[in-house]
Amino acid sequence: MATLHKYDAVVVGAGGAGLWASLELARAGVNCAVLTKLYPTRSHTGTAQGGIAAALGNMEEDHPDWHMYDTVKGGDYLVDQDAAEILADEAILTVVELEHMGLPFDRTPEGKIEQRRFGGHTKPDPANPGKRIPVMRSCKSSDRTGHMILQTLYQQNVKHETTFFNEFQVLDLIIEGDECRGCIAVEIATGEIHIFHAKAVILATGGFGKIFKVTSNAHSLTGDLVAIAYRRGIPLEDMEFFQFHPTGVYEKGILISEAARGEGGILFNAHGERFMERQAPSMKELAPRDMISRFIFEEVRAGNGVGPHKDAVWLDVRPETINRYKSAPGGKQVTAHDLERALPDILEFVRLYEGFEPMKEMFLIQPTAHYAMGGIPTDLNGRVLRNEKNEVVKGLYAAGECACVSVHGGNRLGTNSLIDILVFGRRSGLDAERYLRETAWSDISPKADELAISQLEGLLHATGKESVAAIRKQMQLTMDQKVGVFRTGEDMKQAISVINDLREAYQNVSIMDKGKKFNTDLLEALELGYLLDLAYVTATSALNRTESRGAHAREDYPNRDDVNWLKHTFAFQSAGGVEFRYKPVTITKYQPQERKY
Ligand code: FUM
Repeated sequence: MATLHKYDAVVVGAGGAGLWASLELARAGVNCAVLTKLYPTRSHTGTAQGGIAAALGNMEEDHPDWHMYDTVKGGDYLVDQDAAEILADEAILTVVELEHMGLPFDRTPEGKIEQRRFGGHTKPDPANPGKRIPVMRSCKSSDRTGHMILQTLYQQNVKHETTFFNEFQVLDLIIEGDECRGCIAVEIATGEIHIFHAKAVILATGGFGKIFKVTSNAHSLTGDLVAIAYRRGIPLEDMEFFQFHPTGVYEKGILISEAARGEGGILFNAHGERFMERQAPSMKELAPRDMISRFIFEEVRAGNGVGPHKDAVWLDVRPETINRYKSAPGGKQVTAHDLERALPDILEFVRLYEGFEPMKEMFLIQPTAHYAMGGIPTDLNGRVLRNEKNEVVKGLYAAGECACVSVHGGNRLGTNSLIDILVFGRRSGLDAERYLRETAWSDISPKADELAISQLEGLLHATGKESVAAIRKQMQLTMDQKVGVFRTGEDMKQAISVINDLREAYQNVSIMDKGKKFNTDLLEALELGYLLDLAYVTATSALNRTESRGAHAREDYPNRDDVNWLKHTFAFQSAGGVEFRYKPVTITKYQPQERKY
């Protein structure tokens, strides 16, 4: 027998987007609950390292318009420019509000928020009219910015008495007609089913990087609610665009923040060549991520790779190298002490996971699957779209990485993720509060939990011979090898065929733990189902887009094709697989141009 709860609003996910949405609701006196499958302060926002973008101009001249321009160009012109303008404008008040909440930002000697450089964030080069060079736009708390944001927002929610249901895994959305009326969850500690009847549900569950093997994403990032929304008929937007961060710990994928390059770190190939000077003469190591990841692969292919399998390059953050190349901001001289202060966690990761001493040696890095640009489509207030005509699912919102308001287009700039989750998390919370005031309660069906229970029971009692771990491993390897930094039609067809076979095999999985309490075996089996759906939509959307743009680099279609593909993909679940429809890109200030750095 399920337990029934009634809340005006339910937020699913307790990272930055969810916690800012719930904070807005709690401050407005709304009866709101946050459901998270983790403990809130373990959400993945906490692992974000390098900073949060806002054109404060504390270190040098900067403007929201420049931030907007960089975001649009960085996203290879697939960005919806009305969303990018909101992001850049509202970034400033968002960071200031965080400061007022008590977030311990690093400070300049005058006491202002300190900022650093990050890939693709630029200002005009005074020495070369028409050219752009890196700007210090990323507000930071050493290399623990996400951790500080998460702690700050959680404390604010506690202060405003938000109700938390920790370690509750959401299994289904209650959608009747064009209206969302709540969700169904399982309490991980007991295995009991809970029905949350709500007027509004805000999805803020993060990404699904675990479709890949080498990824910076935590084990929990399995895209549960993205897949559940898709199964409930909601389209997924621009799923072909998945970001590979250039600098992951070799073979493990753990993130080495771009901040390492923002502070002056340099990439070298096997011949000691600083290849980014050749590839992106203005921005060098601070070119956007999609480009640097491709350039690293090109070095490896050209036989210039390093490491045991010659499939990596070096990252060098030794003070003597940074000083020799004058690659720190303003060409200033740095000491080991400066770098230990700016990058404490990163340097520790290198020592711990790679066994290198980064103050004395270069270390190996390799691109790592990092961020989904695509996801659940929303409007500028986080309202979930049910089709390409901008019609909404009433009462359903999404914000952060699980969503696609299309502020990142084909490629996200570093530090735009933290600002995206907060700006659009807040906008979702505010709009949900308006919606609640204007909307009466609707009933939910007595059978609302039927599907969730039958799925759970089905997996619990299954007797098939297939193993969750084996299917997951093959899916991840296939995605790494066939739907990675460079893609071809042939590879992606093979990937889709393998994933189809794996989805069939998934129908015959069984699990060993048949109990109810803390059954992580069961949860992993559920999560694999979500991952398989998302891997399938990602690969199918990638095969469908016959051009190269942003992070989607096709060797068989190497050019951007604005005539045919300056449009968003909407992928709908259909009987035959995936049905594609399209939506125009919103272009306001910046016409598409060739993207050079
Ligand atoms: O490199 C980093 O610190 C990552 C930042 C981001 O993805 O925005």
